Amino acid sequence: MSRLSIVIFGATGFTGKHAVRELVRVGKADSALTWGVAGRSRDKLQSMLDETSKATGEDLSSVKIIVADVGDEKSLKEMCSQAHVLVNCCGPYRHYGEPVVRAAIDGKAHYVDVSGEPQFIESMQLEYDQQARDAGVFVISACGFDSVPNDLGVIHLQRHFGGTLNSVESYLTTQAPAEGRTSGAINYGTWESLIYGLAHYNELPALRKKLYPERLPTFKPKLLPRSVIHAREDGWCLPFPGSDSSVVYRTHRHLYEHEHKRPVQIKTYVKFPSLLTALSVALAAAFLFLLSKLSLTRGLLLKYPRVFSLGLVARGPSEEVTRNTHFKFELYGEGWEAGADVEATPPNKKVKAQVSGVNPGYGATVVALLHCALTILRERDSMPKEGGVVTTGVAFRNTRLIQRLCENNLKFEIVNDK
Ligand SMILES: NC(=O)c1ccc[n+]([C@@H]2O[C@H](COP(=O)([O-])OP(=O)(O)OC[C@H]3O[C@@H](n4cnc5c(N)ncnc54)[C@H](OP(=O)(O)O)[C@@H]3O)[C@@H](O)[C@H]2O)c1
Repeated sequence: MSRLSIVIFGATGFTGKHAVRELVRVGKADSALTWGVAGRSRDKLQSMLDETSKATGEDLSSVKIIVADVGDEKSLKEMCSQAHVLVNCCGPYRHYGEPVVRAAIDGKAHYVDVSGEPQFIESMQLEYDQQARDAGVFVISACGFDSVPNDLGVIHLQRHFGGTLNSVESYLTTQAPAEGRTSGAINYGTWESLIYGLAHYNELPALRKKLYPERLPTFKPKLLPRSVIHAREDGWCLPFPGSDSSVVYRTHRHLYEHEHKRPVQIKTYVKFPSLLTALSVALAAAFLFLLSKLSLTRGLLLKYPRVFSLGLVARGPSEEVTRNTHFKFELYGEGWEAGADVEATPPNKKVKAQVSGVNPGYGATVVALLHCALTILRERDSMPKEGGVVTTGVAFRNTRLIQRLCENNLKFEIVNDK
């Protein structure tokens, strides 16, 4: 049986539906691209396709529907055997991801997802990297808003630095319409993934020890964390707790171990317009972290997402709000001019990059996700030969992915070189 170019699993979910719409859009320009949708209910998949057809004006009657359930390994393997690239939108990944990764490797399909859950991402690397290499396929998580802007942003900065890049401090700013507080800006699936991620945060140190028993040597100057709340230019900043810093670390650790490249260090922060907002967010985050720890209070968080997220989370947030939410990552790079003695002299060069776009959760995310999938199909020869469980930075650094993203409204720029 010939394989479809792409199969989207979890296509009935909030992210999955947006991914299908984006695939319809990019598919129009590529007649060779074949694709299908997969999920646990044929009826739901059919009505999602009908809705998408209505919204886009495209005839989707020939799109293949594949029924597959996370609880049924045989159905997952059959699904993966029909795809060159499996796009997995079915999360929380700590609950549903592993059988899909296993099935992709068994079925020899490349795998991409939008997980922002470090426990899941790193345990997949620990358990399945060798198997993925043996099968000659890629398993690439965090292909969405987590963590493409930072992971590829650092690669972009490094490429344009004109010397040796030692460290990057990344600052995320978002701007959402005020209605985000009443009609929601984030879907429940992301909230659920966040709550379970916080609840099991303490798994990470042991997992990382197994994944990387040897520490990397220290490269100087060491990039130290800033104070928990600090001011930078026009805002007040807190540490950004997502998967980005660990993804970027894994990229540069891989490049160090496989290509003897000096690793780039990173610290990630999120910026707010006032000290009061930053303080309120810090308090809310600490409160969430504590409540996620006990099953009783975790149950309340999961049952009343709107209350505990102060209106930000909804089961199906407003399209108006998500489409008008803007984001920007400012990446401040520091290092040395070309030719400088990096061991004996302090850094003497700074370059700033910026990655920006709209609709981080469901616009930029699905653009990045699908262009990762398309890049595997179109530029396999520019990617590492052996496959494996790798980051976007490792997989795509020698491809045209950044350029494709820029052409699709996810902009990577160098904003000054002073
Ligand atoms: N990194 C990022 O930037 C980013 C952005 C957006 C989303 N995400 C992540 O994407 C994931 C999905 O989020 P979402 O908001 O789209 O969630 P969602 O709307 O709840 O969608 C979940 C999907 O999983 C499917 N599913 C659940 N159990 C299944 C099973 N046993 N077998 C087959 N399919 C099953 C659901 O199918 P049914 O329709 O049949 O229930 C649905 O299609 C979350 O982990 C979220 O954190 C990440």
